[in-house]
Parts: sequence; structure tokens; C-alpha cells
Amino acid sequence: MLVKTLLWTATLLLLAVFGARAETALERGAYLVNSVLACGACHTSDAPGAQPFAGGRRFVTIAYTAHAANLTPEKETGLGNWTDEQLIYGLRNGKRPRGSTIGWPMPVASFSALSDEDVKAVVAFLRSLPEVTNKTPRSTYRKPLPASYGPDVTSVTSVPESDRLAYGRYLATIASCTYCHSRPGEDGAPDFKNGLAEGGREFRGPWGQSLAPALTPTAIGFYSDADLKMIIRTGMRPDGRKLLPPMPIAQFAGMKDGDVEAIVGWLRTLK
Ligand code: HEC
Ligand code: HEC
Repeated sequence: MLVKTLLWTATLLLLAVFGARAETALERGAYLVNSVLACGACHTSDAPGAQPFAGGRRFVTIAYTAHAANLTPEKETGLGNWTDEQLIYGLRNGKRPRGSTIGWPMPVASFSALSDEDVKAVVAFLRSLPEVTNKTPRSTYRKPLPASYGPDVTSVTSVPESDRLAYGRYLATIASCTYCHSRPGEDGAPDFKNGLAEGGREFRGPWGQSLAPALTPTAIGFYSDADLKMIIRTGMRPDGRKLLPPMPIAQFAGMKDGDVEAIVGWLRTLK
């Protein structure tokens, strides 16, 4: 009897979690990773014929030379030896199973906001990738990395999609809009408290230099909602000027209408 009741409770819970959304955890994970979290913008090499998520992109700044790791389930060179729990903990807290810190520019401050449901979906998707053997070089950092990025994040409740403002803020956080577009604090992490969406992070690359501008109403108020949707998904401004990298346009192109709208709606409410 007890077993039966437990089984029923489990079934009902599953229905409550997945029933409301007509998509499986794997589908949700694929959408998040490919079109919102933009893992592939860094973890896929830009060399022709490179295997998706098998690592290889190199970031060179004055402060570091970093190599984005292989995220496929291969055991020696990928994430095959990490348990699901270790991967979930690592994404949110920027830690490897043995305790070392995962370094810049991995946007840990974005992923620490991932809800329990969404972070599990991300892991389900990563586990479904074909195994690829590709050993990426070790990253080097001039200054030692912080021992931690903040208090341990172990559980985050889901933000209901029906709460459009809260959901817009959630998406803008996990999609790293606020990571790149907030003023960096002294430690290099985005200062969400005093500089939220106020702009100021600088990037250098083969394209030269770019600066993530403020996304506050004073800064982007002259764009219509349709303009902003176009900029975010195509990287093209209404006057035809293309955005410089590294905003992950190729990934955001697949973002659902309702999700871009929720982000824009939230940006409109900023001070
Ligand atoms: C802006 C670029 C960027 C994005 C976006 C990004 N990463 Fe990373 N990631 C990196 C870099 C660079 C490293 C290597 C850091 C180091 O060597 O300390 C890394 C390291 C990691 C590691 C540690 C792997 C290991 O073997 O040590 C994991 C796990 C990881 N990323 C997963 C993800 C996932 C999942 C996503 C999307 C949800 C993601 N990353 C998005 C740049 C990025
Ligand atoms: C990896 C960093 C990065 C991420 C993530 C990112 N952006 Fe950007 N964004 C930039 C940079 C850099 C520019 C400036 C490009 C240029 O100078 O042409 C920019 C430009 C923009 C612009 C154009 C502003 C103007 O004044 O014309 C908008 C709007 C924008 N981003 C919105 C977003 C939103 C919304 C998200 C999240 C869905 C996002 N960005 C995620 C780096 C980023």
C-alpha cells in the first residue's frame, strides 16, 4: 500500500513538473543550451568541421589565456567522469569535482540562477551528446582565481512563465544579458547590485574592441520592442549596423518569441 502511494505521488509529481510544459527535460535542455545559455558559443571550436560542444575555443586577454573545455560525455577528455550532481554543482558554483575553480570567462554568475528543473534539463542534454575525444589545453590565469564565486548555490525554485516580469529577469540572467551588460565589479564579476544592465564590459578579439552598452530605458528607450527583438535575434540594428562580437547572435536566433518578449519587457522596467 505504502509503495503504491509512493508510486502515485511520484507520478503526480512528474506530471506536475512536466505536464504543464509539453516538452521533455531533454527538449527543454536542448532549447536552453542551444538558444538561451549559448554554451556552444564558447565550447564549440570555430575551426571548420569542429564537433559541437567538444571544446577548443581559446580566449586571450591580458589577464588570461583560457580554453573552453570538452563538454561531451567522453570519460578521459570530457565530462564522462562527472556525476550529474557534480555537474549541476559545478555549473552553478564554478567548481570541478576535486574543488578547483572553473575560470573566466565561463559565466558562472549567470548559471548560478538556473532553477533545479532547468539545470537538470541542461545536464540531460549534455549527457545525450555523442562522445568526442578532444583534450583541450590547460587555461592559465595571471591572478589566482577566487576560491569561490559566492555562497554555495544548491537549490533554486522555478520562476513561473506566467509571471512575465520575473521570468524575463530570469531569462536575462541565465542568457548572460546581465553578465555582459552589467558593470563589472573589482573582482571582474558583474556587479548586479550597483551596475545592473548599466553596461561597461569590454571585449577584444580579431574584430578589434567592443563594449557591451547599457540596456536601461535611458540607453535603449528609442528602440521599439520590435527593433529590440530584431537586434537580439539577428544582431542587426534598425539602421543596418551589425553588432560586433561577442554577443551570441547565432544562438539567440533560435530564442522563442515569448522569451525574447519577456526579456524586453523586463528591460523596460529597469531604472
Ligand atoms: C563565454 C564563454 C563560455 C560560455 C558561454 C560557457 N562556458 Fe563553460 N567554460 C568556458 C571556459 C573558458 C572554460 C575553462 C575555464 C578554465 O579552464 O578554468 C569553461 C569550463 C567549463 C566547465 C569545466 C570543464 C572542465 O573539464 O574543467 C564546464 C562543466 C562548463 N564550462 C560547462 C558549460 C556549460 C554547460 C555552459 C552553458 C550552460 C557553458 N559552460 C557556457 C567558457 C564558457
Ligand atoms: C558575451 C557578451 C554578451 C551577451 C551574452 C549579450 N550581449 Fe548584448 N551586446 C554585447 C556587446 C559587446 C554589444 C555591442 C556590440 C557593438 O558594439 O556593436 C551588445 C549589444 C547589444 C544591443 C545593442 C544596443 C545598442 O545600443 O544598439 C542590445 C539591444 C543587446 N546587446 C541586448 C542583449 C540581450 C537582451 C542579451 C541577452 C539575451 C544580450 N545582449 C547578451 C555583448 C553581449
